[in-house]
Amino acid sequence: MKILMVCLGNICRSPLAEGVLQEKLNRKGLDIKVDSAGTGGWHVGQRPDLRAIAIANKYGVDISHQKARQFSPTDFQEFDIIYAMDGSNLSDIVALAKSSEDIEKVRLILDELNVENNNYVPDPYYGGDEGFEKVYQLLDAACEIITKKMCNGKR
Ligand code: 4NP
Repeated sequence: MKILMVCLGNICRSPLAEGVLQEKLNRKGLDIKVDSAGTGGWHVGQRPDLRAIAIANKYGVDISHQKARQFSPTDFQEFDIIYAMDGSNLSDIVALAKSSEDIEKVRLILDELNVENNNYVPDPYYGGDEGFEKVYQLLDAACEIITKKMCNGKR
């Protein structure tokens, strides 16, 4: 099983989602690999945003080794589940799909939370540190639910 987290730049939200989910799955001893990518290519090769590294660090998750890459259509073959952070990421990913099987792999990560009207992870790039705290809390809650599902053998 392989899970891909996707945002726009792959330097703020999806690196956090990757780090948080991988940490939770590892703690449960589950053999599931998590990766992340951006729909845009501006930051390819870069480390996560320093504010993302800092908020992860605050909660004991190290994402400083990650390097940004761009989402590729071959990711549809490579991954079983593809989580988009917001609706624009979702439509950008779906636009690259070649089959209904590809499309079925794509989900909004906050749909795991079942909270109405709050299903997009807000882009924290142009805001302050409080935006990163909010993003962390949303992703932590969603990744907790995903981990429970994986423990129960569900998708
Ligand atoms: P991310 O945030 O999609 O959560 O990584 C962004 C990072 C960079 C840009 C936009 C969003 N940008 O326009 O460069």
